[in-house]
Amino acid sequence: MKHGSILVTGGAGYIGSHTVLQLRARGERVVVLDDLSRGFRQAVLDAPLVVGQVGDRDTVLRLLKEHGVDTVMHFAAYTIVPESVSEPLKYYGNNTCSTRTLLECCLAADVRHFVFSSTAAVYGIPSGGIAAEDTATAPINPYGTSKLMSEWMLAGVAHASPLTYAALRYFNVAGSDTGGRIGQATPNATLLVKVACEAAVGKRAQVAIFGTDYPTPDGTGVRDYIHVEDLATAHVDALTYLRAGGASTTLNVGYGHGFSVREVLASVERVTGKRLDVREEPRRPGDPPALVARADRIRSQLGWQPKLDDLDTIVRTGFAWEQRLLREPW
Ligand code: UD1
Repeated sequence: MKHGSILVTGGAGYIGSHTVLQLRARGERVVVLDDLSRGFRQAVLDAPLVVGQVGDRDTVLRLLKEHGVDTVMHFAAYTIVPESVSEPLKYYGNNTCSTRTLLECCLAADVRHFVFSSTAAVYGIPSGGIAAEDTATAPINPYGTSKLMSEWMLAGVAHASPLTYAALRYFNVAGSDTGGRIGQATPNATLLVKVACEAAVGKRAQVAIFGTDYPTPDGTGVRDYIHVEDLATAHVDALTYLRAGGASTTLNVGYGHGFSVREVLASVERVTGKRLDVREEPRRPGDPPALVARADRIRSQLGWQPKLDDLDTIVRTGFAWEQRLLREPW
């Protein structure tokens, strides 16, 4: 059967742009919708870019029809946890309300499949710091809540229509394209690996550890860091699965093991050969102590096989990207 094209919302952003490259490498037809509020035109290497908003019904409907879209991959969202704590309505508006509009358009245009960027933040503080897909959801910040509400809408829509979906709950995404073409370029980055790599190239003077009194082995927060290319592959695998008639599903995307903040900083020092100026600070609001995936379901259901499950490799690609950004700022 001939497949339609794929609308990638947020395709100029960090994870979306890496996924677009893999879709194009597979010969898929792709169109990107991004308002460039957080994304970069130059991150869209191999697909048409339409500058617009996911919450703009007319633009989305036109795009779906003009490009013969049968699958939507929805990355466009705000993703900064501390910002979501201080500006919750911004997150509910851009993440939840816009997703509602997008879903309405998908129904109107008979879109068949939907791959959704969800987050491990839907779990809040799971017991033992480990979350499986059937662990109770209890987000502790508006970012997680905004995404969980979208998951619920998606489940309702799939129940009431032929649309099938994969909701992918990302753990901590890091690193950059192993070919060095693209990476995360967000100004004022807050993600640990990026922040530490920025410090290693001299873009920042210091790195803060937010909280050293957590109930974790070394007192700092533990996360399941996953390379952005393995995450992008999970989307391509989800597409294959849904096209083959797979039922709607919700999947963790992580490696299933965690590293503490101190372990990440040690990796950055090891890989870059630089000494970081590290400052211990109080806990950051909205942060759980530990969050690691039970990650077997995605392997068995999608046949997902990560290739870059190694902290130093993740850091190496992130560092190479920061060095490039220093030479050629985006
Ligand atoms: C959060 C979300 C995640 C989301 C991501 C994107 C949760 C549980 N997870 O990840 O779903 O995709 O944001 O924004 O809400 N840290 C420092 N110093 C720093 C930066 C971070 O010590 O300068 C620590 C944090 O306290 C945390 C760990 O490093 O323990 C990872 O933080 P970060 O990289 O910001 O990601 P999360 O907040 O875990």
